[in-house]
Amino acid sequence: MIDLIQKEKLPRHIAIIMDGNGRWAKERNQNRLFGHQQGVLSVQEVVEGCAEVGIEYLTLYAFSTENWKRPQAEVNGLMELLVSTLQSEIEKLHENNIRLDVIGDIESLPAICIKQLDAAKELTKNNTGLTLVLALSYSAKWEIINAIKEIARDTKEGKIKEEDINDDLINQHLSTSHIPNPEFMIRTSGEHRISNFLLYQLAYAELYFTNTHWPDFRKENLFEAILNYQNRERRFGQISEQLKPA
Ligand code: IPE
Ligand code: IPE
Ligand code: MG
Repeated sequence: MIDLIQKEKLPRHIAIIMDGNGRWAKERNQNRLFGHQQGVLSVQEVVEGCAEVGIEYLTLYAFSTENWKRPQAEVNGLMELLVSTLQSEIEKLHENNIRLDVIGDIESLPAICIKQLDAAKELTKNNTGLTLVLALSYSAKWEIINAIKEIARDTKEGKIKEEDINDDLINQHLSTSHIPNPEFMIRTSGEHRISNFLLYQLAYAELYFTNTHWPDFRKENLFEAILNYQNRERRFGQISEQLKPA
């Protein structure tokens, strides 16, 4: 299937809401953490798949601020899984020229996670292949509120004028300021919602929903999604005829 993908029509940035670990485990009479553990295999597949195809940025929604409200044992399990996965995978990511980045309220994570993430970012910072962005303790509303506060402060202090506030400036104040907006967003496991993910950045993204649970998501599913994206017409408010050169 990878052969069908047109290199000149790739999204630069794919964002994924990795959903359905719990339901996947439940269907197998296993606990939710088992589902999360199996989900790590899908992360490996998708990272590899993106690197193979030549995607520049992959953002994975791994933990939302709302997820802190889950039972403590599940939250702890997820944090431990994050630490153990970073530990076991970081060398491989580095060897594959992948750069790790993180967005979200990182300070709210356990100290050991922060330490691991900092070390992983430092190790991979000069890599030039795929940038893998982990959204951790991430909330798009939180990010937008922060941006508004910073812009309000800069306006008050006279650093910027009200008329300077535009799309570019807002983008500069988001945690993704150094990353292009995702052209393509995938959500697994059948829910049709954004769940507080990249609200501003997804304004014109193509959305793709699949019933496949995250632990079942493989490279082929990714390639199928990319092919679906390539068959879409992105009009940005214009009409079809305006897009095609005469
Ligand atoms: C996604 O799977 C992983 C995280 C949110 C951390 P879920 O845990 O949300 O799985 P479901 O939606 O309950 O099946
Ligand atoms: C969104 O999934 C967050 C992540 C994938 C990390 P959830 O499973 O938490 O979303 P809701 O609560 O069903 O909207
Ligand atoms: Mg879910």
